[in-house]
Amino acid sequence: MNLILMGLPGAGKGTQAEKIVEKYDIPHISTGDMFRSAIKEGTDLGKQAKSYMDDGALVPDEVTIGIVRERLSKPDCKKGFLLDGFPRTLEQAEALEDLLGDMETSLDYVLHISVPENKLVERLTGRRVCPECGATYHIQFNPPATPGKCDQDGASLIQREDDQPETVKNRLAVNVEQAQPLLDFYGEKGYLATVEGDKDIDDVFVDIDSRLQRLS
Ligand code: AP5
Ligand code: ZN
Repeated sequence: MNLILMGLPGAGKGTQAEKIVEKYDIPHISTGDMFRSAIKEGTDLGKQAKSYMDDGALVPDEVTIGIVRERLSKPDCKKGFLLDGFPRTLEQAEALEDLLGDMETSLDYVLHISVPENKLVERLTGRRVCPECGATYHIQFNPPATPGKCDQDGASLIQREDDQPETVKNRLAVNVEQAQPLLDFYGEKGYLATVEGDKDIDDVFVDIDSRLQRLS
């Protein structure tokens, strides 16, 4: 099963991705997570990506396409994959078409989680993440059992640096501008499935899952 998960920042891509990969046993490829790991490890890639992410801007296409190319070439992607947050520009989408052609495979679905823009700021500024396992929470909509602690491992939850209100504004503006051409691109190819994301996390997953069950 070869999937792309699209949606504006805060639409719930990471939250739904956790559920999809657990049920369908495919690798979760999040370019945002890959950049954050590289920053944590202090690699060259991390140093390159950090300044863009801190501004809420996109990391340049050649860098982003390069890390996805490398990741998709790993053997575990032969059984399928879930791309989360990639592609985000037409250039990335066209590069992905070439990569999939080289792999002699194609996409099954581009799942677009649609949430009104005015709901997203609240979701992003209230998000808390676990620095150990990457689990995502929300202080109001998806709180951990013990305030401030990860349910899985008890680690203290933190706020992502790009979830500060000023950066959030810029991230949303940049992504809104990029989104429509990509939706048109995948709509014309017949891959696009839009899912209503402005409801409970579990209800969003029911909708996604009912589409995926038709594929498996
Ligand atoms: P990335 O990490 O991909 O961030 P993003 O796209 O901005 O998306 P988010 O992770 O913020 O949101 P999400 O949709 O995953 O929402 P979540 O499930 O966490 O990218 C970060 C940066 O990396 C980019 O700004 C860019 O610089 C760079 N980058 C990454 N990919 C790139 C690319 N392809 N090209 C160039 N640059 C790239 O949910 C959000 C919150 O809402 C959580 O608190 C959650 O608990 C809550 N929530 C989720 N679902 C619901 C619901 N149904 N109801 C209520 N609350 C909910
Ligand atoms: Zn954790």
